[in-house]
Amino acid sequence: MASKNSLMSWIDRRLPVTENLERHLTKHPVPSKVNFFYLFGALLMVVFMIQVITGIWLMMFYTNTEEGAFASVEYIMRDVEYGWLMRYMHSTGASAFFFLMYFHMFRGLLYGSYQKPKELVWLFGCFLLFLLMAEGFLGYVLPWGQMSYWAANVILSLFGAIPFIGESLQVWIQGDYVLSGATLSRFFALHVVVVPLLMIALVVFHIFALHEVGAGNPEGVDIEKYRDKTGMPLDGKPFHPYKTFGALPAIGIFFIVFFAIVYYAPTGGGYFIEKPNFEEANFLKTPEHIAPVWYYAPFYSILRAVTFGIPFLGITSKFLGFIIFAASIAILFIVPWLDRSKVQSIRYKGIFSKIAMIMFATSFITLGYLGTKPVNEIRTLIAQICTIFYFLPFILMPIYTKYEKTLEVPDRL
Ligand code: HEM
Repeated sequence: MASKNSLMSWIDRRLPVTENLERHLTKHPVPSKVNFFYLFGALLMVVFMIQVITGIWLMMFYTNTEEGAFASVEYIMRDVEYGWLMRYMHSTGASAFFFLMYFHMFRGLLYGSYQKPKELVWLFGCFLLFLLMAEGFLGYVLPWGQMSYWAANVILSLFGAIPFIGESLQVWIQGDYVLSGATLSRFFALHVVVVPLLMIALVVFHIFALHEVGAGNPEGVDIEKYRDKTGMPLDGKPFHPYKTFGALPAIGIFFIVFFAIVYYAPTGGGYFIEKPNFEEANFLKTPEHIAPVWYYAPFYSILRAVTFGIPFLGITSKFLGFIIFAASIAILFIVPWLDRSKVQSIRYKGIFSKIAMIMFATSFITLGYLGTKPVNEIRTLIAQICTIFYFLPFILMPIYTKYEKTLEVPDRL
C-alpha cells in the first residue's frame, strides 16, 4: 500500500514497509480482553534486549582465557565505569529471563495456547527454552568461579555417561581431556554469537507464526467470527497503539522490581549468583555442595532423583537420569498433540485438567526447591514422587482431555 509521502511511496514500491507495518502493527487485531499472563511475552522481549546490550558491554572488557577470565570479571566490577551495573543487570537479567519464560509457558498450558493452529508458535517457543537453557549454562561458566567450574563438570560428565560414544563426545565438547581454557573459549564463542543469533531468529519466527494465526485469549474464544465493517474483529483491537502502549505500565513495574534487585540484592541471596562463584575456579578444591542456579533446579532435581534412585538394567543410573532429565524438557514439545480437548482454556476444561495443572505446578516448584538443597534420603524420595507427578499430567493428557466433561465456550469475549 503506497503512502502519500513521496519518499515513503518510493520505498514502498521497492520494499513494502507500510504494508507490513499495517499488517503487523496498526491493523493487526489482538483480543480486546486478556489478563496479566499475556504481558510476559512483551517483558521477555525487554529482557532479551537488556541481555544483548549489557552483554555487548561486558564483552568489551571480559577476557576469555583460563588465566584471565576471573580477574577480568573482578576488573569489570571494580574498575570499569558502571561495570558493576552492567554485570549485575546481566546476571539478574538471566534470572528474570527464566522467571518470565516459566510464567509465559505456564500461561500457554493454562489457556491451551499451543492448540491448533498455534502448534508452531509453541514449538518455536520450546526451542527458545532449550536455547535459553544452553545460553544460561554457557554464560555461567564464563566468570570461571568455583561454581562455574564444578557445575560445568557435573553437566559435562552427563554427556560422558552416554554408553559407547559418551567419553569421546565429552572430550569433543570440552575440546580437551578436562574442563579447561579450551572449553572456556569455545563456550564464550557459543554464548556471545551462536546461541544469541539462533535465539533472535527463533523469536522472529515465533512472532511471525503468531501473527499468521492470531493471538489467543484466556477464554479460548475465536475472535475472528464477528467483524465490523472495517474488517476488525468485534472483540479485537489493533495491536498498535493499544497493545504497544498498554504494555508500558507493565514494563515500568518490571523495571522498578528489576532495578530494586540489581541495586539491593544483586546476588539474589545466593540464588542468582552463588557464593562459591566469588572464588576463582580451583580444580583441586570441590565445593561442599554443588547446586545449580535456581532456574535449572527443577530439572536438576529430576536428574538427581533418577540418578540416585534407579540403578538397574546395566545402564548406569547416571545415564538413565540424563534420559529422564532430557525427557522432562522434550515432553513439552509434544504437548499440542497430547491435548485432545474440544476447548482451549482451563476455564472450560474439566476437573481432571484442573487437577493436572495443579499437580504439574506443585511438583515443578517442589522439585525446584529440592534441586537447590543437598541430597538426603527423604529429599530423594520426595523428588522421585514429584518426578512422577511432573510427567503424569502430560502422559495421561490424551485420555483425560478426551473424556472429561467440558463447559460451553461463549461466542464473544
Ligand atoms: C525468548 C523467549 C520468548 C519471547 C521473546 C516470546 C515472545 C512472545 C510474545 C511477544 C508473544 C505475544 C504476546 C503474548 O502472548 O505474551 C508470545 C506469544 C506466545 N508464546 Fe512466546 N516468547 C518466548 C518464549 C516462549 C516459550 C518458551 C514458549 C512455550 C514453549 C512460548 C509460547 C508462546 C505461545 C503459545 C504464544 C501465543 C499465546 C497466545 O496468543 O495465545 N513462548 N511470545
